[in-house]
Amino acid sequence: MNIVQVDYDGLIPNNVGLGEDVRVKHALEKWHPGYINWWKDMGPEGFQESLVYLRTAISVDPKGWAKFDYVRMPEYRWGVLLAPQHEGRKIPFGMHKGEAAWQEVPGEYRAMLRRLVVIQGDTEPASVEQQRYLGKTAPSLYDLRNLFQVNVEEGRHLWAMVYLLQKYFGTDGREEAEALLQRRSGDPDTPRMLGAFNEKTPDWLSFFMFTYFTDRDGKMQLEALAQSGFDPLSRTCRFMLTEEAHHMFVGETGVTRIIQRTCEAMKEAGISDPNEIDKVRKLGVIDLPTIQKKANMHFSLTLDLFGNEISTNAANAFHSGLKGRYREDRLKDDHQLEGGTYPVLRLIDGKIQNEDSPALSALNMRLRDDYVVDCNVGVGRWNKVIAEHGIPFEIKLPHVAFHRHIGEFTNIKADVGGNVLSDAEWAKRRGEFLPSDGDKDFIESLMQPQMEPGKFASWIAPPRVGIDNKPGDFEYVKIADA
Ligand SMILES: [Fe+2]
Ligand SMILES: [Fe+2]
Repeated sequence: MNIVQVDYDGLIPNNVGLGEDVRVKHALEKWHPGYINWWKDMGPEGFQESLVYLRTAISVDPKGWAKFDYVRMPEYRWGVLLAPQHEGRKIPFGMHKGEAAWQEVPGEYRAMLRRLVVIQGDTEPASVEQQRYLGKTAPSLYDLRNLFQVNVEEGRHLWAMVYLLQKYFGTDGREEAEALLQRRSGDPDTPRMLGAFNEKTPDWLSFFMFTYFTDRDGKMQLEALAQSGFDPLSRTCRFMLTEEAHHMFVGETGVTRIIQRTCEAMKEAGISDPNEIDKVRKLGVIDLPTIQKKANMHFSLTLDLFGNEISTNAANAFHSGLKGRYREDRLKDDHQLEGGTYPVLRLIDGKIQNEDSPALSALNMRLRDDYVVDCNVGVGRWNKVIAEHGIPFEIKLPHVAFHRHIGEFTNIKADVGGNVLSDAEWAKRRGEFLPSDGDKDFIESLMQPQMEPGKFASWIAPPRVGIDNKPGDFEYVKIADA
């Protein structure tokens, strides 16, 4: 049965037949107040009474799944939506390849599967927490709305994972669902599970870099889980990917608009050297070298999310049919990888070099390689904008050994080109690669809110088209007086 329409009558909009599933319905209704409390405590600071022009998922039909309307964020209809079931779907990879996809949790993989769901689930509320203060310094109502759209959808992704936990993992699942509301991004005692989700998102350039680079890690993980032999997880992730595309759009176009504004201002002022940083900053825009440093930081932090290059966990998850490769269904090989190899960049005798490793163990590396390719597409578009303005500068992704905290390159220092540096050299040159305190102060000084419809802060260009094709001066957020 293909369930495309969503049941909106109850407390929790859904297309999973919650009405007839009393136990799970009850469990989710019990979890709901804690979620709302979490949203009020840790969601966007302020603006909770404001009317925000948001899209809400009302269907899982790819041709028309969302409707736009003004809504107060705490009243957003967070629902449980799974992409339609494919009749007769088979497990596409691993030792169970070709068997019927699981509709229930296979007992022998229960712990591994639960962990995959919890780790994915933990990132969703974490990013909302990281972004909670940004509303106060939004460069426009358009951007403010986009921030909140990303936030409510990350909230919905948490719902999606919690549904799986409550439905399929019994008491442990219920406890994990509670714990997802207890951990806090950046809290030394109860941190979120993954490093990049405990970092601060202090300003809007960071927000755009985060949604470009880190939400794209989300995309890669969801793509790999969408291949899962556990069908409810696959269907959940397939629908989440529909929403995820907008988050990366926000990031890519956000950075594009910043770059565009910088280039325009430089041209107007007759500055052609991108390294004349002080002169450029006086124009009230962000100089290109600082944008590069922010990209270096967010890219390198995000690479850590892919885990160790050589990983038994990744091998097991694939072998058992729980987590596939990026677009497994389009790859042409045996989908079992028992014999093959894959080149892995390793640190061997102090040198960074490729080594062929068993393909099964190298799956994190492979997903990370696919990720880097995906990242470079948007970077190319950023560079096109710079080139169109005739400015001699190119944004480049740093080497994968640069600024790493997980995996092969944890214990070395490398520059953005992948040259190994001594600790002393690194200490001296760090500010060339990563934002310095001075850079951070400068960016912070620009973060003045612009809340008039149709107006934009000095450092960012307006978008080419509005959300839902709205005109330029559309009031995306009707700000309520506190
Ligand atoms: Fe998400
Ligand atoms: Fe996202």
